Order: sequence, then structure tokens, then C-alpha cells
Amino acid sequence: MNSQIETKIIVPPIKCQGIKTKLVPFIKEHVKRNPNGLWIEPFVGTGVVAFNMRPKHALLIDKNQYIIALYKDIQNKKITATIVREFLEYHGPKLLEKGKDYYLEIREQFNNNGEPLFFLFLNRSDFNGMIRFNRKGKFNVPFCQKPNRFAKAYITKICNQVERVAEVIADNDWRFENGSWKEAFQAAGEDDYIYLDPPYIGRDTSYVGEWPDEEAVALAEYSHQTAANVCLSMWKENEFRRNEHLFQYWSDFTWHEYNHFYHIGAKERNRHPMVELLAIKR
Ligand SMILES: C[S@@+](CC[C@H](N)C(=O)[O-])C[C@H]1O[C@@H](n2cnc3c(N)ncnc32)[C@H](O)[C@@H]1O
Repeated sequence: MNSQIETKIIVPPIKCQGIKTKLVPFIKEHVKRNPNGLWIEPFVGTGVVAFNMRPKHALLIDKNQYIIALYKDIQNKKITATIVREFLEYHGPKLLEKGKDYYLEIREQFNNNGEPLFFLFLNRSDFNGMIRFNRKGKFNVPFCQKPNRFAKAYITKICNQVERVAEVIADNDWRFENGSWKEAFQAAGEDDYIYLDPPYIGRDTSYVGEWPDEEAVALAEYSHQTAANVCLSMWKENEFRRNEHLFQYWSDFTWHEYNHFYHIGAKERNRHPMVELLAIKR
């Protein structure tokens, strides 16, 4: 494999708010791990960090059972790129014909059957690739309002993403688990590396369930106590405020900052700087 291909970022088939695709090179630059140790992600989300770190051994946990079910099915080959193509080529034209009503039909079906392919369909045709559930655990993100969402090129793009992550999973010894972050710490030893990307404190927490302050504080305590190395990914500050939790609980870790801009609208003056941080134990 030439180095250009090797350094190309692997983009997973799932999207979510807070996805770390843009931070992958920064994370790869700072995370120094024992290649024989276990790579542990208690908040794996889309998996973009794991797919690009490509550890041999990994324990990948998330509270969102649908993401975990999708990756488990890709791992055991119950879901392949061909199956995804068939599914999207069947439902895509119906979405084109019926628009929002069809999206809502699929959303209703998913809320009854919990099937990973339905989850993928919704995640790739909902508003901004958001993942959000109501208090009863029902997926409630609205439609992206593009009936032609699953045009041929878009289906191919998603299938290629499925194929790529399937290859990485097949090459390695990875375990996907649906559960809470605390379980991840039980498995951690001195040679292991825990990468943490929890829901953001003080910002939108509309992922699965809530992220109360007590959980955030407990996570900091577990991270200090574990024998494993730990890297926390978190926002540090923007022009309006700073993340006091970081200064209070993570100040003894080594901090590496990454500045990026996000846009609200197209105008240059609406570029807003945001500082993201990696806080690394050792
Ligand atoms: C910021 S996202 C992770 C994003 C991920 N690094 C990526 O780039 O795709 C946080 C994740 O934590 C999960 N989560 C929230 N609360 C959790 C908990 N108590 N235990 C485990 N996972 C949790 C959410 O389902 C979500 O996938």
C-alpha cells in the first residue's frame, strides 16, 4: 500500500454530532500507544477514531445499541456493502416518491424493530446526520428534506464506507459492546490506552440519554485511577466561554490544543474560533 492511501482518512458509514473526522490527524500525532496493548473507547460513536488508529486489539463501547449492532453485524458479515446497497436501492426510490412521509414511515418502523439497516437509512437521511432519542428511547430526528437523498452516487459512497470499515474490522481483533463507559475501565491494564470522547459538558447532550455533571466527575476520577494511559478529547474554549470542568478536573494531564473554525452562515465575519483539546495522562 502506498503512503498516500495509508494516510487517507477512513470515513465511517455513520454520522453523529461531535464526530472527530477533522481531528484524526491531530489525535494520531499525539496519541502514543503500545501497539500490543488494548485500545479502549468507552464512547466510540461512529468509530472514526478507532478506524483510523487501526489498533490490533480493541474494546469499543457505546450506550447507543444501534451503532453497536450495526458494527457487530458488519463484523459477522450479516451486513455487507451488497446488502446495504440492496436495502438503499429498494427504499431510496420510495423516499424520492413519497418524501417526508416515507422517512417518517421508516422512522416508525425503526422505533418498533430497532434494525441496524433502518438506523443507517435514518442516520443518512435525517437532519444533519443527527442521532437523538426522546425520553422513551424513540428516535426523533426530523427528515433532511431532500427526497432524492439516496441518489446513486450517495448509495455508492455509503457502500464504499461500509466496505472500508468492514476491511479494517476483519483485519483486527475488535470487540464491540453496548454498555456504559464504566465497563471499559474494568478491562484496562498498564499497557492499554483509553481514548475518551464523552458527550460535551455544557453543550448539546442530545445523544442517547443525558450526561450529568456527576458522570463527568466520575469519569475524571476513573481516568486518574486506572493503570492505563488516557486521552480525553474535549472542547476547551470559544470566544464566549471556557470549559471550567477541564480546568478543575483535568489540569494535571498534558494539554494539546487544536484551533478550528466553524461557520454560521456564509459570511467571513461569522467564522467562530473554537479550541479543542486533547488532555493526555502520560
Ligand atoms: C461525542 S460522541 C463520540 C464521538 C466519536 N468519538 C466520533 O468521532 O464519532 C459521544 C458518544 O458517547 C455515547 N454515550 C453517551 N453516554 C454514554 C454512556 N453513559 N456510556 C457510554 N456511551 C455513552 C453516545 O452514544 C455517543 O456516541
